[in-house]
Amino acid sequence: MVGELRFDGRVVVVTGAGAGLGRAYALLFGEKGASVVVNDLGGGRHGEGSSTRAADVVVNEIRSRGGKAVADYNSVEDGEKIIQTALENFGRIDVVVNNAGILRDKSFPRISDTDWDLIQRVHLKGTFKTTQAAWPHFKNQNFGRIIVTASNSGLYGNYGQANYSAAKMAVVGLSNTLAIEGQKNNIHCNVIVPTAASRLTEDILPPEFFAELKPELIAPVVVWLCHESCEENGSIIESAAGWAGKCHLVRSQGSLLRSKITDSVSPENVQSKWDKVTDMSNAVRLESIQEASGALMTALEDLKSGNQDTPDQNTVVEKF
Ligand code: NAI
Repeated sequence: MVGELRFDGRVVVVTGAGAGLGRAYALLFGEKGASVVVNDLGGGRHGEGSSTRAADVVVNEIRSRGGKAVADYNSVEDGEKIIQTALENFGRIDVVVNNAGILRDKSFPRISDTDWDLIQRVHLKGTFKTTQAAWPHFKNQNFGRIIVTASNSGLYGNYGQANYSAAKMAVVGLSNTLAIEGQKNNIHCNVIVPTAASRLTEDILPPEFFAELKPELIAPVVVWLCHESCEENGSIIESAAGWAGKCHLVRSQGSLLRSKITDSVSPENVQSKWDKVTDMSNAVRLESIQEASGALMTALEDLKSGNQDTPDQNTVVEKF
């Protein structure tokens, strides 16, 4: 039997915790002993308006179950104020769950500047501002856990969500680098890709699955990723309906497009190699930017020194 994962003494900020997934995360952190900052702007689904109600209701829920929580009504665009709420009320910050989100779905030609900017500001800039404000505290105490929230709309695309897809994939890039920069100070950053019933998805998800996609089934995954004993860092974790799995990018073995370093590359060369370029049957995961560019440099050196004059599939597999 594994011991209970507790968060006593830990201070957790959950943004957009007044509803849906954020509420489920906040309630579970509260149950596990964390002091929780329940942030929510309390606006509409498309980013309009604001209210204190959403955050207050969840704070009362946590307190009525014996937990510790305070409300914060700032927009994540003012993330430093949210972290300030944590410091003023609880004296520290250990975990930031970047969850707040809105939608402004339109097919691509109809996206206005406002539709674009608001989505980037809430999802991407909000994640940047809130996380950056917590970062020095994480560094000083040699501990921090960060969650950023992506979406299958970002990983795979989804009709009518170009602005949202762009923002959701942008936070994956942010997380990749934060995981690298934070590693030496025990600051871990992971991406959650949820699918859950909420006001954001009530008209998107198939009605027959809606009741099964409870946010409470994803909360344990997020809470585990934020625990001090969890070593996961820099990962993308998809979760829904009591299931979780890890995603990552892969690259095909690829193909050299020329035989000698002195050869140029024509579009016709590319066309003739295209099957090999796009053959994913032996695709590999590259663990780092060094691995990706290092393999490329080695192959280039070989090409220069003439070792690679007839690059067949196997040689290329080795090098790339
Ligand atoms: P929700 O609409 O139920 O909850 C989002 C909360 O964020 C709301 O309470 C809202 O008031 C708050 N919020 C919005 N803008 C804010 C701002 N500027 N500052 C502070 N709070 C703000 O939505 P749901 O479904 O719980 O979504 C949570 C996150 O998960 C979002 O980032 C969403 O994009 C993401 N997501 C959700 C999926 C799902 O299936 N529900 C799928 C993929 C991603």
